[in-house]
Amino acid sequence: MRRLFLPVLLLAAASLSAADPAKDLPKFQGGDLNKYWTDACARCHGANGSGRDNSGKPLPDNGFDFTDSRKANKKKDSDWIKVTLDGKDKMPAFKDKMSQADVEKMIPIMRKFAAK
Ligand code: HEC
Repeated sequence: MRRLFLPVLLLAAASLSAADPAKDLPKFQGGDLNKYWTDACARCHGANGSGRDNSGKPLPDNGFDFTDSRKANKKKDSDWIKVTLDGKDKMPAFKDKMSQADVEKMIPIMRKFAAK
């Protein structure tokens, strides 16, 4: 029993951290912000902003459906900038990963999800 316990515990811990979408978020290095959405945001918000993966399954910690134009159109750019920089609940803060100017440039990307 004791022999089995530690490896099982380590396995459980490893799979838990691998499933944490807020882990190892890359820093924005300049360049294409659409690519940064794919690298840093899509793991929770989905490639198309819906909070679902390519098979339509809801992602863990998806939080907000950017394709829901009724909801998205009620949101102010300034609120989205603030949440992205400072975080909110399970939404990680990105202020150490990207500048405010970069976040501002990302707003049209988030707006486009609802426009489709
Ligand atoms: C670890 C998962 C995760 C990652 C990664 C993530 N988000 Fe979020 N995001 C969330 C969650 C969860 C919420 C909902 C927060 C709440 O309202 O409680 C959210 C909310 C938001 C909101 C506010 C939406 C609203 O009006 O309620 C914006 C804007 C946003 N995210 C932008 C981004 C951007 C831009 C990135 C990438 C740079 C990103 N997020 C990466 C999980 C994530």
